[in-house]
Amino acid sequence: MILDQGLDLTLRPMKYPQFFQQYKNSIKNIWTTDEIDFSVDFEHLRDRVSPQEAHLIKRLVAFFATADNIVAHNLVLNFYKHVNSPEYRMFLGKQLFDEMLHVETYLLMVDNYIPDMEERTAAFDAYKTTPSVKLKADFCFKYMDSIEKLDILDTDEKRKQFIENLICFAGCVEGLFFFGSFAYVYFLRNKGLLPGLATATNWIFRDESMHIDGAMAVIQTLRREYPHLFDAALEARVNQMIDEALAVELAFCADALSFGVTGMSQTMMREYLEYVADQRLQQLGFKKKFLSKNPFPFMVLQDVQPLTNFFEKRVTEYTKGFESKKSAVTFDEAF
Ligand SMILES: [Fe+2]
Ligand SMILES: [Fe+2]
Repeated sequence: MILDQGLDLTLRPMKYPQFFQQYKNSIKNIWTTDEIDFSVDFEHLRDRVSPQEAHLIKRLVAFFATADNIVAHNLVLNFYKHVNSPEYRMFLGKQLFDEMLHVETYLLMVDNYIPDMEERTAAFDAYKTTPSVKLKADFCFKYMDSIEKLDILDTDEKRKQFIENLICFAGCVEGLFFFGSFAYVYFLRNKGLLPGLATATNWIFRDESMHIDGAMAVIQTLRREYPHLFDAALEARVNQMIDEALAVELAFCADALSFGVTGMSQTMMREYLEYVADQRLQQLGFKKKFLSKNPFPFMVLQDVQPLTNFFEKRVTEYTKGFESKKSAVTFDEAF
């Protein structure tokens, strides 16, 4: 069973080929920060961005400055520890690399957007000092700390606590907090602002979608192996967690849009977050709750076409290497 304690190192016969396939897919998406140019963003911040938009961007920077490091920390401490599948641990190895790239990207963004050293430090401290950013970090830490002392998942209650941690980070942090922030970035891109951040976000959006899919595949496996855990009580706990995450993200929204930004409102963002939350509930195998519609056409396009032309070109190039017969690894062979 996948939550049994231990270090399974057996890749043949392959017990969870789906995770291996996801790992293979994820390594087709490799990019580096060398390809991002934030210099035009800096000009926009100086010449084109309104004070209201500047406040929104300041809050986004404060969230991005530390968020991926928190995700990476939980990945190592909890996902890697408790999901006893060598295939998923390979996927997590790539995910950790992605998270480090995201950390580096946002470091580059902070350096380019904020010339003043004291302000830079303040951006990194925001998870402790800016209430709307702190709320998000505290939400993460709550579900991280709750399983800190869990070494062996030997009872159903402990397994459920781990499942909550998994859902918190994949469904709520990567799945809601990040998607909310991506929506602001694409809203700004729609106004012709911050092309550097938009480019970086294209790649990060793609990575995060894969990370969520990976965790959701684990949840599906858990449903198969431990069907009794997914009872009404767990569904109620997950619904409550989603409510909590939405409240936290809406508090962030209230702060980020507190001076008003033309074309974006708290009501629209609420609708969007509820729409995304329903998608997460559905992916988790639970009932939709809000039935809200996506109010952002620019995010519909993003959902349908997560790859930029640039990225497609990259994927094609990278895919070539992996398709050669010599290096092809099959997923279903047992030997
Ligand atoms: Fe990330
Ligand atoms: Fe991620």
